[in-house]
Amino acid sequence: KAVAVIVVGGPTKGTRFRPLSLNVAKPLIPLAGQPMIQHPISACTQIPNLAQIYLIGFYEEREFALYVSSVSNELKVPVRYLREDKPYGSAGGLYNFKDLIMEDNPAHIFLLNCDVCCNFPLSDMLVSHKKYGGMGTVLVIKVPADAANQFGELVADPVSNELLHYTEKPETFVSDRINCGVYVFTPDIFSAIEDIYKQRKEIANLRRITSLEALQLATKSLPADFVRLDQDILSPLAGKKMLYTYETMDFWEQIKTPGMSLKCSSLYLSQFRSTSPHILASGDGSKCATIIGDVYIHPSAKVHTTAKIGPSVSISANVRVGAGVRLINCIILDGVEIKENAVVINAIVGWKSSIGKWSRVQGEGDYNAKLGITILGEAVTVEDEVVVINSIVLPNKNLNISVQEDILL
Ligand code: GDD
Repeated sequence: KAVAVIVVGGPTKGTRFRPLSLNVAKPLIPLAGQPMIQHPISACTQIPNLAQIYLIGFYEEREFALYVSSVSNELKVPVRYLREDKPYGSAGGLYNFKDLIMEDNPAHIFLLNCDVCCNFPLSDMLVSHKKYGGMGTVLVIKVPADAANQFGELVADPVSNELLHYTEKPETFVSDRINCGVYVFTPDIFSAIEDIYKQRKEIANLRRITSLEALQLATKSLPADFVRLDQDILSPLAGKKMLYTYETMDFWEQIKTPGMSLKCSSLYLSQFRSTSPHILASGDGSKCATIIGDVYIHPSAKVHTTAKIGPSVSISANVRVGAGVRLINCIILDGVEIKENAVVINAIVGWKSSIGKWSRVQGEGDYNAKLGITILGEAVTVEDEVVVINSIVLPNKNLNISVQEDILL
């Protein structure tokens, strides 16, 4: 058997996602018409003999309750949310729920960050992991050398694929191979985490100070019981024939900002083109709008036949799109109304917002720039003939004049 654990973090971690994360937890923000976290969850259902999927985080239980029960029914796999009372780090969180995770007696434990976007080649990783015979296998990808320092950089043996060296977000260049935040472990991972706690206790005893003080010293003021998978586990265990790597040649991105969520929505839409084309709008038939490229339209959305949609557009439930509307590379969330002849390009339009006739909501499309896309929070009203360029608008604002490069509080 196998179990999968997805670490989702908590409300203090999604701050770069404001204003969208003011309404829902970051892992539930829709990409390509499905909550961010549903993409890894769907991938987990492909794991042979999967018993459970656990989401571990420090969000309130109620933030995930509804989603967890609906996704369990929809995908026919038990998904459970486990709440930490505070952040314990990516490995500490896992360790806290050891007994529960081991209840099904799994031979393999998949661990996934919630904020990565890829095709999650989990079954292939498992095959390689069994062949290597180590404690863990890490998904890695080659990135441009100047981008690598935002991630865990690593060196692997080109023949055996053993992880030889690991440094988290190094200041000087180590390698252009990086940690993708997707792992498969044997249950020995729990002993490895336990060893960290033991080592920290020993330091405490040696220094004859309280264990809490020592741990805080050892971890440079991080809480005593905070264990990070990367720095605290991968770094010290590299080169000990315990950890191996699986390199993906497919797409991979990290989703830390709304700009990146727009890019990842588009990547998932194009993945649907090959994996599940029936999800995408076909544009066939005279009663349908003109569809260009990969577009998702929720069945409850009403799109006028004279609208032109795509490429890379996702339209959520109960959205209304009027005559002559043009949508390119955007995410339109539940209940939005877009009136006649409005244009939305490189933008995320928040729940229940309204865009007036002949208005324009647009970003330049630089996913990494702070104002590279335009984001409207929940229930924003853009009045008729108003132009909003490269701006972020907080919830419930009413815009009656045009704005550019602005953050509207
Ligand atoms: N439950 C829980 N508790 N989850 C947590 C906690 C915690 O205390 N802290 C972080 N997480 C979750 C986050 O939600 C995210 O999904 C994942 O753990 C990793 O977050 P960070 O620890 O903030 O690291 P990072 O995202 O900056 O970098 C990690 O992932 C990169 C790949 O995306 C590192 O492992 C990098 O090496 C790696 O390249």
